[in-house]
Amino acid sequence: MKPTEQTKPRKILVTSALPYANGPIHLGHMLEHIQTDIWVRFQKLRGEQCTYVCADDAHGTAIMLKAEQLGCTSEELIAKVQQEHERDFAGFEIGYDNYYSTHSEENRALSSLVYERNKARGNIVAREITQLFDPEKKLFLADRFVKGTCPKCGAEDQYGDNCEKCSGTYAAAELKNPRSTISGAEPVLKANTQLFFDLPKYQDFLAQWTQSGSLQEGIANKLKEWLDAGLQQWDISREEPYFGFEIPGETGKYFYVWLDAPIGYMASFQNLCRRRDDLDFDDYWGKDSDAELYHFIGKDIINFHGLFWPAMLDGADFRTPTAIYSHGFVTVNGQKMSKSRGTFIKAETYLRHLSPEYLRYYFAAKLSSRIDDIDLNMEDFAQRVNSDLVNKVVNIASRTANFVKKLGGKLANTDAHPQLTGEFQAAAGTIAAHYEQREFSRAMRDIMALADKANQYIDEKAPWALMKQAGNEQDVLDCCSVGVNLFRLLTLYLKPVLPDLADKAERFLNIEPLQWQDHQQLLLGHEINKFKPMMQRIDRKQIEAMTADAKADAEAEAAAGKPKGPLGDDPIADQITFDDFAKIDMRVAKIVTASHVEGADKLIQLTLDLGGETRNVFAGIKSAYQPQDLEGRLTIMVANLAPRKMKFGLSEGMVMAAGPGGKDIFLLAPDSGAVPGMRVK
Ligand code: MSP
Ligand code: ZN
Repeated sequence: MKPTEQTKPRKILVTSALPYANGPIHLGHMLEHIQTDIWVRFQKLRGEQCTYVCADDAHGTAIMLKAEQLGCTSEELIAKVQQEHERDFAGFEIGYDNYYSTHSEENRALSSLVYERNKARGNIVAREITQLFDPEKKLFLADRFVKGTCPKCGAEDQYGDNCEKCSGTYAAAELKNPRSTISGAEPVLKANTQLFFDLPKYQDFLAQWTQSGSLQEGIANKLKEWLDAGLQQWDISREEPYFGFEIPGETGKYFYVWLDAPIGYMASFQNLCRRRDDLDFDDYWGKDSDAELYHFIGKDIINFHGLFWPAMLDGADFRTPTAIYSHGFVTVNGQKMSKSRGTFIKAETYLRHLSPEYLRYYFAAKLSSRIDDIDLNMEDFAQRVNSDLVNKVVNIASRTANFVKKLGGKLANTDAHPQLTGEFQAAAGTIAAHYEQREFSRAMRDIMALADKANQYIDEKAPWALMKQAGNEQDVLDCCSVGVNLFRLLTLYLKPVLPDLADKAERFLNIEPLQWQDHQQLLLGHEINKFKPMMQRIDRKQIEAMTADAKADAEAEAAAGKPKGPLGDDPIADQITFDDFAKIDMRVAKIVTASHVEGADKLIQLTLDLGGETRNVFAGIKSAYQPQDLEGRLTIMVANLAPRKMKFGLSEGMVMAAGPGGKDIFLLAPDSGAVPGMRVK
């Protein structure tokens, strides 16, 4: 009896949040895509018709400004970034059915359609508002592009929407001494007409929808608080200049990025439908669709998915999501990811040092259906992966396979321990239920408990000891055949998490790709292949090298003058206080020698003269300078930075340079009148 053959497969459409196209993929993003991918792979393994789409979120002011700084067009920037994103996700074995971009014709058409239908319903209203305007850049400033003194507590340097010191919220126009973070100019108030989605009309609809079981409990409660406080109209338009879609019927007005971003889910699916005969757009998005629709997102974007999105969909006569699955944030060694600590780890950096399956397993071992943050503790990570995957799971095969091979290469014809194999087979139901409910940590715990039992059985039988005496061959073959079968079942149960390990195991077992229902059979009288090592232990040195690499990356970026904060790719603002700043000893330094560093793509080695004293510094300015052009020039260095051991040697300070990055990094002009050793502030 194969249950998946009896019932019609479920039709399931799954998405991960669309990463912004202005920055690289990091391990925080990876948590989400790994969680989604495991769930999708599980559904596919069960024979459901499950489709997984994603895309880059390509619009908005941040992307436009970044392109400007890099001296390219927004289109060029998003194309390049999308390529990098796709490369990173592929590196982590994320199996999208389609990865697209919100800057697509499908999305333009669908965004207009959703807007027009809502407009026809009277859900769009125009209102005049006054907003802060950057008179130099000639653009209206979103809250995060304004900083000033908190009107409530007087704390300096606060963003335009809320204060980090006193947690007060306010309108950007209330800030004292406001500054545009883009140009530094003082913003002025300017009136203009904007378009709003009339969210308050959806108060009752949303009160019902958010409590209908589509949301995790904690989230439903959070949204209830917002609903009880009363909903506000939502500003969906942005003035020129803006990188996005122009609003039909308006001039110089664009859809706010958060309007067309979730519609990007639909557009990516529609784009896929063009290539796939078995998928029909309306069948999944139509009002009376019987397909299931799930969005995996982080806890920071719940309001968009739990309020605006269902309202917008309903207003446009589309179906609403079946459920929204939200997860917590990744921390590293118990703290927010930080560039300076080397824990802001890009997907690309991780993959240079470690196998993707280690992280997939580690996240799986920690993920549940709740929205708790997930800590990647490097020590625990190495220990867990080594002890669970290498020492427990793969070990079962490596301890038994060779004996089978020695004894003819064919597994025994009968099952020598039906009680044990039966227990492994019977576990499929519970493990499947854990996967289905996104209780991956429970699934991993159950699987590892089984692996312990398998090892215990092999320990007791000790085939290596039996082999020493002639006449025990059948016994050894029987025991090792049980071992190989237990390994096969464990690999199957781990397959959503470890597709590459499963692939290697399938080759070794000489079988077709495993499907979930294959747990019902055992391999008897079957010829297997030679066992080859399937997974290496993590060496602590790999983690150290990755951390050093992440640090060096961050330093090279900082040295190359890449912008940070709202314009940079670091969503976690690494701010310092004035006191921190005051500690920095900046001195004029003369570059005495400059040379290439063997094996480093970004660094130049500099010998700096500080007016008597010399320092050795590695600077990430190779993109802008030939070493020979630097010799004899003046620069500013941080003289009291603690020396740091880098891959290439000891770096005794940091060179300061400014510029948009790439080829333009400015050092001091030769005729600036500065002398080596001179203090700068
Ligand atoms: N572009 C929007 C999403 C639009 S969806 C229609 C966005 N992009 S993002 O790049 O900032 O974040 C993408 C996803 O990654 C979000 O779900 C976010 O919660 C998640 N994460 C970003 N940093 C994270 C961690 N440190 N940890 C876990 N997830 C985090 O928001
Ligand atoms: Zn304050």
